[in-house]
Amino acid sequence: MLIKKPDSIPSSEITSESVYLQRRQFMRGVGGLMLGGMSGLAHAVPEYPIDADLPRYPGPAWLQPQIRSSVRNNDYSTSETPAPYFNAITHNNFYEFGTAKKNPAQYAQEFKTDPWKVEIAGAVNKPGHYHLEDVIKPHLLEERIYRLRCVEAWSMVIPWIGVPLAEVLKAFEPTSKAKYVAFTTLLDPEQMPGQRSYFSTIRWPYVEGLRLDEARHPLTLLAVGVYGNALPPQNGAPIRLVVPWKYGFKSIKSIVKISLEEEMPPTSWNLTAPNEYGFYANVNPKVDHPRWSQATERRLPSSLLDPNRIETTLFNGYAEEVAGLYKGMDLKKWY
Ligand code: MTE
Repeated sequence: MLIKKPDSIPSSEITSESVYLQRRQFMRGVGGLMLGGMSGLAHAVPEYPIDADLPRYPGPAWLQPQIRSSVRNNDYSTSETPAPYFNAITHNNFYEFGTAKKNPAQYAQEFKTDPWKVEIAGAVNKPGHYHLEDVIKPHLLEERIYRLRCVEAWSMVIPWIGVPLAEVLKAFEPTSKAKYVAFTTLLDPEQMPGQRSYFSTIRWPYVEGLRLDEARHPLTLLAVGVYGNALPPQNGAPIRLVVPWKYGFKSIKSIVKISLEEEMPPTSWNLTAPNEYGFYANVNPKVDHPRWSQATERRLPSSLLDPNRIETTLFNGYAEEVAGLYKGMDLKKWY
């Protein structure tokens, strides 16, 4: 991203494999019925065309069956065509692995993402350090095809696989004190060259946050996969946030901590350049970045001859679903 130069869940509570599979069968049945008229969880996730020379990321053994049986949620998917897999895995922002778009694909391939623990902290009845498997396994995985709009004015359509954050939060029982959710990326300079760099403008670890109602919005996803497979390391394996109506920097990668907070938590880009990046960071064509317009975006794939520039839409086209969250708020002030 461009910035100004500096002046364990008890086993009794985890769904057993057989119950899980039964639930899965049920959901598939429901999905089939829904095809008859209603929308919703209607389609098994298709195979995406992946060039033979491009790497696939099957993910850990525990995740594979869950990914294979994920179903597309049509209610929350755009009908726009997803970007080619190549673009999604080679054009990345993941400053922990370097600042150039190709750096994450170059330097993240050895990144260890299993086993992985996530700390659940703050205002919850069930805090603890959980194995990712125990966080994800109780839930049905859905495919959601979302637009991703980066604050740098490029965008892509990406088929994510994940679980609504609201469902995950519920399992840990937030208390009435919880007003915000704070997220933290892994801090591991040995594995992440960007965290060793003397030129880094970010104070590590990368942190992000949402208001609790934003976190609980049905569009907000915790993703563990893309294009029918597990997440590649460069895309934030093994677990990342996806908030499609906000600029991409809110969608924090490789999460190791989720904390329910009483106060608005600090966020990395806001700490780095507060006048350029706010806490809310809702996509808004009428609120320009101080150094460039946000009225249009370059939809990838694009080239010099075919820049594929399109108009940016309020809340990245999700206004109908999310505008109510910001009723009465001055979106220029709360950028
Ligand atoms: N998360 C971490 N930990 N570090 C980062 O540098 N970059 C953000 C976001 N999540 C970033 C991050 C930005 S600016 C964008 S646009 C998206 O990741 C890009 O996601 P993608 O590489 O999967 O397209």
